[in-house]
Amino acid sequence: MKLKTALLISAMALAPAIASAADKTVGFSQIGSESGWRAAETTVTKQQAEERGIDLKFADAQQKQENQIKALRSFIAQGVDAILLAPVVATGWDSVLEEAQDAEIPVILLDRKVDASDDLYMTAVTSDTVYEGEVAGKWLVDAVGSEECRVVELQGTTGSSPAIDRKAGFEKAIADAPNITIVRSQTGDFTRAQGKVVMESFLKAEGAENICALYAHNDDMAVGAIQAIKEAGATPGDDILVVAIDAVPDMHLAIANGEANATVELTPNMAGPAFDILDAYWADGTMPPKWVQTESRLYTADDDNQAIYEMKKGLGY
Ligand code: AHR
Repeated sequence: MKLKTALLISAMALAPAIASAADKTVGFSQIGSESGWRAAETTVTKQQAEERGIDLKFADAQQKQENQIKALRSFIAQGVDAILLAPVVATGWDSVLEEAQDAEIPVILLDRKVDASDDLYMTAVTSDTVYEGEVAGKWLVDAVGSEECRVVELQGTTGSSPAIDRKAGFEKAIADAPNITIVRSQTGDFTRAQGKVVMESFLKAEGAENICALYAHNDDMAVGAIQAIKEAGATPGDDILVVAIDAVPDMHLAIANGEANATVELTPNMAGPAFDILDAYWADGTMPPKWVQTESRLYTADDDNQAIYEMKKGLGY
């Protein structure tokens, strides 16, 4: 054997069997673009994939579960190395997840959970969405003290895990405050446009003077509702307190302008932890825990929201 060939073979034998993310293909089934937060999650996921040399196959489901199921089946047929799934609703995933499992393709859930058995996916990278609702509710309990407070609630997409959990968390937080009652609750589908339309109907039905606070399951609906409150001749952030979830730039701006009061941050970087998990798995088979929790922090008027707005506004929201 020639010396050069022998050296090459021995070097190969010594090298650890590390599979590089650089030669991997990952399918990402995204819900759509219903909110500023969602747009940022898409941007960050694409950036994270590019930085790691991952070939990301992106599919926008335009809010439809059937499109997500089709996308997953297409990823499976293409033999991708892993799938990222942001599931629009919680139910109805068992069959397609079983198909991915049969094809030995790991699936990581991003930002929302499913009702299926956790044997069917590798892990879920999400925030604690019940806790987010609790943080928002606790903020309101502290803000109103013993005053009577009639709350209107804008729910997220019906059947989605954050809509279910954020409602439950908020209700838990106000359970011991009999002075706080939810008088109207309806979905605004996580969009700014629907947030405005539904808030208009709340204002018409209740009268602005009879609403003390708006709790929205995301900031985009809150921002739409703020417009409706202003058009109704009331002052958002003062006549009607506004608390929501996401911490998108426009919400920081609304808080800085006194038109909103609080928001709970949801990081758009779910893909970073997900790709780290896949890297570890591809390197040596390391399996993650079934839930990788991202942080949730409360922002109020006590924070420098103008500065945070300036910092976040170029980040893809
Ligand atoms: O699943 C996360 C939620 O989905 C975000 O809070 C909301 O803005 C988005 O549409």
